[in-house]
Amino acid sequence: MMTVYIKTPDEIAKMRVAGKLAAEVLEMIGPYVKPGITTDELNTLCHNYIVDVQKAIPAPLNYRGFPKSICTSVNHQICHGIPGPKKLKDGDIINIDVTVIKDGFHGDTSKMFLVGNKPNVLGLRVTQTAYECMMIGIQMVKPGTQLGDIGAAIQQHAENKNFSVVRDYCGHGIGREFHEDPQVLHYGTKGTGIALQAGMTFTIEPMVNVGKYHSRLLPDKWTVVTKDHSLSAQWEHTILVTNEGYEILTLRDEERAGPLYAHN
Ligand code: MF3
Ligand code: CO
Ligand code: CO
Repeated sequence: MMTVYIKTPDEIAKMRVAGKLAAEVLEMIGPYVKPGITTDELNTLCHNYIVDVQKAIPAPLNYRGFPKSICTSVNHQICHGIPGPKKLKDGDIINIDVTVIKDGFHGDTSKMFLVGNKPNVLGLRVTQTAYECMMIGIQMVKPGTQLGDIGAAIQQHAENKNFSVVRDYCGHGIGREFHEDPQVLHYGTKGTGIALQAGMTFTIEPMVNVGKYHSRLLPDKWTVVTKDHSLSAQWEHTILVTNEGYEILTLRDEERAGPLYAHN
């Protein structure tokens, strides 16, 4: 059985706080994402900021046995990469995925970083496309829109660029639980799926591969990689459905003037 919670005004206020904190972790960590730093050092910086400054809880830590406080997914890693001793290098692309719990509610958001100044042309293209896919989906959010409409539009945009959308992982309702109903697929068919209602909160977090969509789980049981080892990019926001449309609960200052990348 599927239970999609409609948040009360009081719960929405708490979701706004959690979303803002998650966004601020990504803003804090940006300057540290440079060649030579390890993903474990990024994890420690985020963990300490969440715990000591924000007085919040890093949701991934011990979630179903996940050993760290953020996910770091580099190059052909699609998602759920475990921070470790590997150093970032010039030309890498990395997704940092942050989820915090504050006052019982979750905020979940991720962004891509292009490491150093050796341009990675394909890395930039897939990063831009994944951002555009996320924004196309977000801009469709309003009461009455069906989830299949959103999935279809995201898939269409990725495939127009000759990239593919990951099928094995999806967005999700979010609130008191990290992962609630509904599942938010980033592919699909217009006119299918549940219709959105004001007060729903969920993530949109498309994963876009340069090559084929197929994924493989590494023996660490967490890290998801592209089967063909092609580059992969992902962005994520936590969204509230409002009477008028949507509110991005995890918006960063760099996005306040408008989308980071604008599609055509
Ligand atoms: N933050 C991820 C998401 O967007 C989930 C990470 S689960 C973890 O849903 F255990 F790997 F942290
Ligand atoms: Co999520
Ligand atoms: Co996330």
